[in-house]
Amino acid sequence: MEWKRTYQERLTSAEEAVTTVLSGDRVVVGHAAGAPEVLLKALVARRSRLREVELVHMLCLGDGGYLAEGMEPHFRFNGIFVGSNNRKAVEENRGDYTPCYFHEFPGLFSSQLPVDVALIQVTPPNAAGFCSFGVSCDYTKPAAHQAKIVIAESNEQMPWIGGDNLIHVSQLHHIVATSHPIFELPLPRIGETERLIGEHCATLVEDGSTLQLGIGAIPDAVLMFLKDKKDLGIHSEMFSDGLIDLVELGVVNGRRKSIHKGELVSTFLMGSQRLYDFVHKNDQVKLYPVDYVNHPTVIMQNSRMVSINSCIEVDLMGQVGSESIGLRQFSGVGGQVDFVRGASMAVGGKSIIAVPSTAAGGKLSRIVPFLAQGAAVSTSRNDVDYVVTEYGIAHLKGKTLRQRAQSLIAIAHPAFRDELEEEFARRFAATLCAVGV
Ligand code: COA
Repeated sequence: MEWKRTYQERLTSAEEAVTTVLSGDRVVVGHAAGAPEVLLKALVARRSRLREVELVHMLCLGDGGYLAEGMEPHFRFNGIFVGSNNRKAVEENRGDYTPCYFHEFPGLFSSQLPVDVALIQVTPPNAAGFCSFGVSCDYTKPAAHQAKIVIAESNEQMPWIGGDNLIHVSQLHHIVATSHPIFELPLPRIGETERLIGEHCATLVEDGSTLQLGIGAIPDAVLMFLKDKKDLGIHSEMFSDGLIDLVELGVVNGRRKSIHKGELVSTFLMGSQRLYDFVHKNDQVKLYPVDYVNHPTVIMQNSRMVSINSCIEVDLMGQVGSESIGLRQFSGVGGQVDFVRGASMAVGGKSIIAVPSTAAGGKLSRIVPFLAQGAAVSTSRNDVDYVVTEYGIAHLKGKTLRQRAQSLIAIAHPAFRDELEEEFARRFAATLCAVGV
């Protein structure tokens, strides 16, 4: 077979493959748990031959050696998300953040951010010469299709996942055969606060809903309270281990989904080896590129779509800051607004911002009179729908500014309600005066 010859001819070592990266190139790196660790290490090892290589990615698990102090002349990070391994570099101005909705990221590769090299990770080829992108389809597949050069790790341990998640060997210019475990995430600790939030959120989920859930303790807590629901579906940016039990119980079966009936639709996956074993060659699980999965006009086609995401703080008007702590870029908007908008346009859709009422061990309220100076508004007050804390549910859509503030104060931590009430009185008493004049 022709592809086998191509595969053999293009097999090379990581050290040799990365010699095709040149100074000044823009390199898009495979996402999250699909980050090509072996290739990145080889690139870092070659740094003395490279200057001003721009590394573009969203999340990138691994040690991120190219972000270490002293790497500045060689590598510059530019991302649409800030995670634990690149937060310090961005804070110290050794890396950059580009605001962008997740679904629009692939569009940049054919406009403002043309791709010289894509560094990706895939499975070994199947009998027809196709490799699966495994756990990260998202922007990784679009980047591979747009790049002048594609360098791929063909990792024996990458789970095979279908959908629009395949690439033919002939489209890979350099192939490095590897065998290493996929990055795993520690399971989140679900405390009493998360349980209460999960319980409130679950009351908003009707039978037959299609869900988008983020990552972490709150989404997993929501899932814990969905065991009595029927015929749920998944159309999500990502999912993790928390979903497996509900699929095995038959609660999540996708039977009543409006599109992709029966499929667990996602654009990437991150979790433990249990998740990776569950999704491997699982015909229910389908990954599609993020410009499809996260596009609000696709999301909205799911009737009873429910999105559940978290935030840093919410002000009394319902403006949601999810990505920065003041001027400090903490994460990114990711797919939050994609799903908030898609859910709000769906028939019977709801979008939920689920957040503990306090941060920093109870010292700070997350429901605040004003967002911190410099904070980015991620979900605007025009888009916000439900906000949920451990103290209950505030439904903001269609509510006046006065009603919003009242509803939000009612779900704030009791220790902060007095000061929020004072601001309420200041704000709305002044309005009454003005109206009276
Ligand atoms: N003021 C100051 N600091 C705050 C704060 C506030 N109002 N709220 C949170 N923090 C701090 C916390 O203390 C914590 O600090 P630490 O890391 O030093 O402990 C840090 O910010 C993270 O807060 P936490 O709530 O624990 O983070 P999380 O892991 O639950 O993530 C978001 C919350 C909002 C950052 C995350 O959900 C996100 O990035 N959302 C936007 C993207 C998105 O929604 N994508 C779609 C789903 S995949």
